[in-house]
Amino acid sequence: MEKYIINGGNKLYGSVGIQSAKNSVLPILAAAVLTDGKVEIINVPQISDVKNMVKILSCLGCDAVYEGDNLKIDSSSADSCEIPSALAHELRSSVFLLGSVISRFHAAKIAYPGGCDIGLRPVDLHLTGLKRLGVKITERNGYILCKCDKLVGNEVMLDCPSVGATENIMLAAVKAEGVTVIRNAAREPEIEDLQNFLNAIGAKISGAGSGTIVVEGVKKLTGGQYLPIPDRIEAGTFLIAAAMCGGEVSVEGARAENISSLIHKLRENGCKISMKSDTIILENHKRLTSVKMTETQPYPGFPTDLQAQYTTLCAVCEGHSIITENLFETRFKYVPELRKMGADITVINRNAFIRGVERYKGATVVAHDLRGGAALVLAGLSAEGRSEVIDISHIDRGYSSFEQKLRSIGADIVRITV
Ligand code: UD1
Repeated sequence: MEKYIINGGNKLYGSVGIQSAKNSVLPILAAAVLTDGKVEIINVPQISDVKNMVKILSCLGCDAVYEGDNLKIDSSSADSCEIPSALAHELRSSVFLLGSVISRFHAAKIAYPGGCDIGLRPVDLHLTGLKRLGVKITERNGYILCKCDKLVGNEVMLDCPSVGATENIMLAAVKAEGVTVIRNAAREPEIEDLQNFLNAIGAKISGAGSGTIVVEGVKKLTGGQYLPIPDRIEAGTFLIAAAMCGGEVSVEGARAENISSLIHKLRENGCKISMKSDTIILENHKRLTSVKMTETQPYPGFPTDLQAQYTTLCAVCEGHSIITENLFETRFKYVPELRKMGADITVINRNAFIRGVERYKGATVVAHDLRGGAALVLAGLSAEGRSEVIDISHIDRGYSSFEQKLRSIGADIVRITV
């Protein structure tokens, strides 16, 4: 087990570069199973979710090798349609492979996926969508078993705009016979990125980024090189760190338009934020004021993946605020840990009622999930005194070189193996 030791109170100055988006890279890796052509993904973050996805690809018989920060995948030798339970439990995105594995083998066997324990996280919409394309699905002993003679395009109406379900159906539809129309599709930038990658290797998809996506089935995909979009959640995390600690930080290689909901909030809190091409610069030298209400929404609303970090900021703003989590049921698990550091937050159902305190006090706290873990690090960086954040393997799922990047802008944080 590893932990972070943080001596809080340093202001942050300098610039930090942003990795490719975890939530783009994972479905793009799943998409690589669809083609026999060689695919190279550029600037792939060295995070455990990606490493686990690479292990799953290897299990399927694909050849996936890192060359520096790039990942080369050759799926021409893929020969298995089964994703073993040990790996599926490590990574929720293993479920994205259903669409591409069925497309390739007309069969798939996958254990129910794992990932962050932030709520129920059902996969009913994924399965209903795949059934619309002609897949027969049974569930046995914790496995999802899929079969079809062929995939045939169809209309799929999603009950809610699920990111994963939209991506899975796109993957299954790419080489289906005929046209698939996905309505009430998720509009996250990572979905448009998946469309752009697939089109770059020969797919015919349009509409991603809107609520209706049209996939015209093609017979064959090729290979190619692709650079995924920057990680808006990593960028947002560093902006919140700078806002909480004070100082001036440039977040480089980011797309401000993909986190405009956060930028809007941080400005309301009192931060000065400016943009120069692909750099977002945040400056703050004072205690921030609270924003009354924030609720998480599907894109372009406030992202659930920044809820924990932003709640952590609100807890040291002047005044009261309420944060409502609309997407996942148990995404306030970090709150009892923040309370150990002096936060005054009461959670009732999906709402966190916050009375801002002057400052966090250093404490030993435990990370329970990826974004909640990152939020505890931000609290530690801005706290008075020393903090320990335990079980940081959760944070390693989504942030590459997190402590190195934080140290490069002045934070006092080290990783210790216990
Ligand atoms: C993806 C992101 C995750 C982010 C989330 C919401 C990846 C790898 N993960 O997760 O970081 O927090 O989007 O932006 O991209 N739902 C159902 N049935 C389903 C599927 C989803 O009811 O079959 C519900 C979920 O319980 C949740 C909501 O839909 O309440 C949104 O979930 P979804 O968009 O599917 O999230 P993920 O794709 O799992």
